Amino acid sequence: MLLDSLPRSRKLDTGYLPTLMDLLGDLISAGGPRPEDYAELNRSIRKVGDDIRGGVVTEELVGRLLAEVTEKHFEGTLQHAARSKPHGYSGDFQIIDSIYCLSTAVNPKLRLWDLFFHSQSAPCAVRNRKNYFHQVLSTLPVSVDGTRHRVLNVGSGPARDLREWFTSERPQKLFFDCVEMDAKAIQYASNLCRPYLQHVEFYHENALRYVPSRGYDVVWSAGLFDYVNDKVFVRLLKALLGVVKPGGELVIGNFSTFNPSRDYMEIFGDWHLAHRSREQLIALAERAGAEIQNCSVHWEAEGVNLFLHIRVA
Ligand SMILES: C[S@@+](CC[C@H](N)C(=O)[O-])C[C@H]1O[C@@H](n2cnc3c(N)ncnc32)[C@H](O)[C@@H]1O
Repeated sequence: MLLDSLPRSRKLDTGYLPTLMDLLGDLISAGGPRPEDYAELNRSIRKVGDDIRGGVVTEELVGRLLAEVTEKHFEGTLQHAARSKPHGYSGDFQIIDSIYCLSTAVNPKLRLWDLFFHSQSAPCAVRNRKNYFHQVLSTLPVSVDGTRHRVLNVGSGPARDLREWFTSERPQKLFFDCVEMDAKAIQYASNLCRPYLQHVEFYHENALRYVPSRGYDVVWSAGLFDYVNDKVFVRLLKALLGVVKPGGELVIGNFSTFNPSRDYMEIFGDWHLAHRSREQLIALAERAGAEIQNCSVHWEAEGVNLFLHIRVA
C-alpha cells in the first residue's frame, strides 16, 4: 500500500526501502506493531540505514517518504512530534517529558506506535539519565555548616529530574540554578516544580552566552552537548569548567557512538545528534583545558548515554 508512494522509476534501485514500506503498511493495517513485531521492524529500519550509508538510497528520499507516512498515519504519536518539532527544534521539553512519563497517544489506535517508540534504547537511556543525575547528586557530601550545595543545570528542559529529586526522600536539600533557552520549557518546568520553587531558580538564557556569577558544587548538563559541534562543545565546556568550585564536579551527558536506535531516531524521527565515543569525549575535555587524570567517562545501563565527569581540584 505505502509502496505506491515510491516513484515508479525508483522502485528497482531503492534497496530495502520497499520492504520497509510494505511492512509499515501491514503494521498500520494491523493497528500498530506488537512486541512480537519489534525485531522485524527494527531489523528493517537498520537495513534501510545501512542502505543510506552505503549509497543505495538517499536520505532525502527515505526522509520524504517517512514524512508523508508520518503526516498521514501518525498524527498524535511521539514519532509525529519528533518529526514535526512543534517547538522548532528536536528534543524539546514536551517530548523529553513524554519520554520520562512513558506517555502514549490519546487515540488507542496509535498507542502501539508510541509503545514501540518507548521500547527503543534511546528513550530508555533518557529515562536512565534522570536516575543517573540523582546518583551524582546523592554522592555530594552532606553539608556540615548548613549551607546548601548549589547545582548548575544547563539546558534544564522539563525539569522532571528536579521534581523527582524534590519529591523523593533525600538526605539534604540542594539549590538548583537552571539555564534554559526556551521560555516555554521554563514555564512548564516552573509549573512542575511549583511546590519547590524556593530551591530552584530558572534563568532564561542561551548557555553559550550566559556567564554565571557564582561557583557550583556540581555542574550538570544532559541532552545539550550532543546537539552541538566539537568547536561549540569545547567552548561551552571551558566556560562551565570555570564555574565549578574547587573540589566540585562537572558532568556532561552525550549520546554514545553505540546507539542501536540511531537509525530509528534519524529515519523515523528526523532526530539527529552528535554521537561521541568515550575517547572523543576525553579528547574534547583535554582541548577545553581539563587534566586527563581528572576526567572519566561512565554510562547508564543501556550504554547509550555516556557521562563525561571532570573533577576540579
Ligand atoms: C534534550 S533537552 C534535555 C533536558 C534535560 N536536561 C533532561 O535531560 O531532561 C535539551 C534542552 O536544552 C535546551 N537548550 C538547547 N540549547 C540551549 C542553549 N544554547 N542554552 C540553553 N538551553 C538550551 C533546550 O531548549 C531543551 O530544553
